[in-house]
Amino acid sequence: KARLYSGMQPSADSLQVGNYIGALLQWRDLQESYDAYFSVVDLHALTQPFDPAEMREKTRRTAAQYIAAGIEPAKSTLYVQSHVTAHAELAWVLGTLTGFGEASRMTQFKDKSQRYGTDGTTVGLFTYPVLMAADILLFQASVVPVGDDQKQHVELTRDLAERFNSRFGETFTVPVPMIQQETARIYDLQNPTAKMSKSAESDAGVLWLLDEPSVSAKKVMRAVTDSEGSVRYDRENKPGVSNLLVIYAALTGRQIPSIEDEYAGRGYGDFKKGLAEVVVSEFGPVRERALALLSDEAELDRVLAANAERAASVADATLDAVYDKIGLLRRR
Ligand code: TYM
Repeated sequence: KARLYSGMQPSADSLQVGNYIGALLQWRDLQESYDAYFSVVDLHALTQPFDPAEMREKTRRTAAQYIAAGIEPAKSTLYVQSHVTAHAELAWVLGTLTGFGEASRMTQFKDKSQRYGTDGTTVGLFTYPVLMAADILLFQASVVPVGDDQKQHVELTRDLAERFNSRFGETFTVPVPMIQQETARIYDLQNPTAKMSKSAESDAGVLWLLDEPSVSAKKVMRAVTDSEGSVRYDRENKPGVSNLLVIYAALTGRQIPSIEDEYAGRGYGDFKKGLAEVVVSEFGPVRERALALLSDEAELDRVLAANAERAASVADATLDAVYDKIGLLRRR
């Protein structure tokens, strides 16, 4: 089986529906045909404001949501990034191969550093994509399923792999990004031209997987639409309704035209009520499974430890080969 790698930051108590549709639903299906590795990238999460008292809990909660959404720890390797020390070590080596200008061109860095200002922007935020490259290359992954916001980082990963291979000899598999189609991108319910994000300024437009179902239903009912009144997909002119249609289609596995037909001649109220029901019936069971997993922390930690061991054996072998290739004197 080909190797597949992906990950998510434990940057909030709950994942949002964009992570669920854009990542978890695909991961769940892909784990059947790939040797899949999914990490909770806690080291990456240190690059934005965080509270140490909440980090452990957010990490466990993220892992629990992976499992609750259908990632099976017996089938896939689901682990916490910091449990495998090779990530930080390979990131250092790759950092020495990354051009300053090259890293400066990463658009996510440009966006985030603008938001944080000169004093809030750290070197860690700058080298974030290098750590992501280390994640992927350690596992010799050939496929990396991500949203299109991460595509540039996977391209940097490819460049670094090729550069390393040509300078030091064949070592890394050069991965390809597997980008979900445009319709897998989910936008903020209150501001439907901005990507839905765990770090959104306002909570009103974000659908959290672990929210009380009634809270999610309310957010759907209050989602921004338009004054036309017809349920029809038109990303350009009707971003709000189009976003709701995408969420509806993704959660039910239906095609958008069939949903448009169902709501033809009916108002947005009916449509939103329908979507609210879909959201509640989809998220309700995921939420319950996640909360059940979180009620037994010892068992969850045990699963994560066993998976980390599996991950470390793959990652350590790659790091060993890298240290050999670049000529470091090894401790015998
Ligand atoms: P993160 O934590 O920002 O997001 C995790 C995944 O969710 C996707 N996503 C979305 N998809 C659709 N609509 C949205 N509104 C939406 N918001 C987020 C993201 O594209 C991503 O696939 N750098 C990565 C984490 C990472 C990683 C890796 C990924 C670290 N190492 C190695 C792949 C391979 C990140 O910040 O994802």
